[in-house]
Amino acid sequence: MKVLVVGNGAREHALGWKLAASPRVHELMSLPGNPGLAELGPVVEGISVTDVGAIAAMARVQLVDLVVVGPEVPLAAGVVDAVAALGIPTFGPSRAAARLESSKGFAKEIMARAGVATALSETFHAIDAVMEHLSTREGPYVVKADGLAAGKGVLVTDDRAEAASWASRWLPEGPIVIEEFLDGPEVSVFAVCTEAGAVPLEPARDYKRLLDGDEGPNTGGMGSYSPVDDLPAGLVEETMSTVIEPTLAAMSEAGQPFLGFLYAGLVLTGQGPKVLEFNVRLGDPETQAILPRLENDLVDVLEGKTPEWSDTASVNVVLAAEGYPEGPVKGSVIDGLAEVPGDVHVFHAGTRRDRRRILVDGGRVLSLVGVGDTMDLARDRAYAAAGMVHWPGMQYRTDVGLQS
Ligand code: AMP
Ligand code: GLY
Repeated sequence: MKVLVVGNGAREHALGWKLAASPRVHELMSLPGNPGLAELGPVVEGISVTDVGAIAAMARVQLVDLVVVGPEVPLAAGVVDAVAALGIPTFGPSRAAARLESSKGFAKEIMARAGVATALSETFHAIDAVMEHLSTREGPYVVKADGLAAGKGVLVTDDRAEAASWASRWLPEGPIVIEEFLDGPEVSVFAVCTEAGAVPLEPARDYKRLLDGDEGPNTGGMGSYSPVDDLPAGLVEETMSTVIEPTLAAMSEAGQPFLGFLYAGLVLTGQGPKVLEFNVRLGDPETQAILPRLENDLVDVLEGKTPEWSDTASVNVVLAAEGYPEGPVKGSVIDGLAEVPGDVHVFHAGTRRDRRRILVDGGRVLSLVGVGDTMDLARDRAYAAAGMVHWPGMQYRTDVGLQS
């Protein structure tokens, strides 16, 4: 079959790599792709990921058999609806179902109906009501923009004035949500949701802050590892039965059945696991750590087959550009890629090819994934590779995979 991957990050490169390894896939296309995906097959240029009609038309003309969508933005724009309308199989939720991620208010409503444990929250449309609410509460305060903000719409702070100014910064763009602070370690649990039901993938943990020791600003994610060995026994099964299944049932009852990857961001609080957020796709950077451990065919898994896992560990170290996340500096030449040994996966994100050179072209530039029999070995491999790659101002965390 011919498969089209929509997206251009390291998550999509990892998805494309795993799909291209399937004996069932003879061609792997990507849109808009990146230099890593370009090594796997044709890259479609000149179509935006939100131009869903153009993506669907292209998929028909190219006789694509399956479209797999990585990021939330094209899902929220309705790419699955547009492609499915032309009779082409697609893996991902409809635009209506994607509101589980694109509207935090909608997600909270579905969680309430489904009886899913989550942070208490209230939605606000005006700053006066925000001020009144904050003045009656102790910190930490959690203030979120309601819509998609690529991880940048959330502020967690002890400072009430800062919480208020964050709310006024985002209110012009839509409602904001203030929620209860959840205290505890985080973990990402993923389910593959098909007509045949939902099956879990292996959990992973990501690192949202820029600097070692969880210091510095929030980012799209600076690294990840899998498996996560400090989880309570049976957490995945419990999450399937108390979070994923009831949410899928509530979505069906609401007339918006959910198909695709459902990602539950959990906090393991003193009162048990609670859902921090839903995403309607795989996580980036979690995917890059999870897929190298998947032993069976990803196409089969997307059709509902139970995933099989290798007994290995993986560590994904994200290399970011100078100035990330505020203002990534683009254009530097990336040296040393050819020295990275073959047992480390190099997944591209913010890169650009210029003849034989690879240049920095975004904030999160590369994911280097070490795999080994132990977490220590996986981490050593990833960091040995990180030591070989360089460009001016390259940033990465040195504590990915070190258990806290
Ligand atoms: P989100 O974009 O909703 O995933 O939030 C980004 C990050 O902010 C999360 O991964 C958490 O680390 C933190 N965060 C968000 N909501 C809460 C909350 N209610 N309590 C504690 N931390 C939170
Ligand atoms: N790993 C965080 C995200 O993909 O949203």
